[in-house]
Amino acid sequence: MYTTEIKHIGVFTSGGDSPGMNAALYAIAKTAEAKGIKVTGIRKGYEGLIDGDFTTLKSHDLQKKVQRGGTMLKTARSKRFMEPEGRNKALQTLLTNNIDALIAIGGDGTFRGLLAFSELCNLPFIGIPGTIDNDISGTDYTLGFDSAVNTAIENIDKIRDTAESHNRVFIVEVMGRDSGYIAIHSGLSTGADAILIPESGKDFIYLLDKVKGYNSEDAFLILVSEGDEIGAELVASKIREINANIDLRIARLGHVQRGGNPSAFDRVLGIRMGVEAVERILSGAKNKMVGFLNNQLNLTPFDEVIKQHQVKEELQELLKLFSK
Ligand code: F6P
Repeated sequence: MYTTEIKHIGVFTSGGDSPGMNAALYAIAKTAEAKGIKVTGIRKGYEGLIDGDFTTLKSHDLQKKVQRGGTMLKTARSKRFMEPEGRNKALQTLLTNNIDALIAIGGDGTFRGLLAFSELCNLPFIGIPGTIDNDISGTDYTLGFDSAVNTAIENIDKIRDTAESHNRVFIVEVMGRDSGYIAIHSGLSTGADAILIPESGKDFIYLLDKVKGYNSEDAFLILVSEGDEIGAELVASKIREINANIDLRIARLGHVQRGGNPSAFDRVLGIRMGVEAVERILSGAKNKMVGFLNNQLNLTPFDEVIKQHQVKEELQELLKLFSK
């Protein structure tokens, strides 16, 4: 059963952009139009919410953006929204513009913002997990993670070509903030010799043991997550302590992982989550995130969402096996 009170939904993307955000925006506009509900796009995340930086969202225009990475609504990490003054101003903007409900697409910072904002008023807020880091509780996949891993492996495969030609050790640093998901998925997919992630302390010892047996007759690929406490530089210096003559290079994949066309998986996930977000708002849900857990869409309350989400135990076990 639908609530009849919702006539106008505001939507924004926030934090680091991720491939699939545009697909979600398209689905939100399409679903709302089908139900006769107005959708307003809020530009630059919470910043646009504070300043009333709005744009009209039409599914016809967004349809052509499904294939594009980034976010056509632009995004930002807002310091002002972290302060009560910023949140009060944002609430005034919502009320003045008769926005009845909000959908936010972003990562853990976005959900912390939503949680704080929900304590200020009684409007329905729904979130969609959009970040390449896959570090959100309540979903097996965040929007953009699959695309980022595909971009990472495409580049790591290329690094392997040159590494094998020179019999070099390559340390490849991937993104992921405090989560090792990108590192473990891209490392397993590219046959890396070692994968270092923040969640696992012992992996460095395995790595050093393995390097001792390295005979410089092949490539040796080490994947390091940017959040790993050891870090690429220290790994390099420890390896040089074992063998000062080792031919070693460091490659940081950086922001290339955030851009590019979304994978088919992220496009469809974005569309499914976008439709679900509008449907759930109309059914009376509030202060929850639409996730994709155990192969189906689900809802998780914001305070659960922001709990730390670590690489699953089962994957960490795989890492031990493949690092040996
Ligand atoms: O959260 C997404 C992410 O790309 C992280 O993997 C990375 O640590 C961070 O954002 C980089 O942020 P910025 O683009 O602000 O440098």
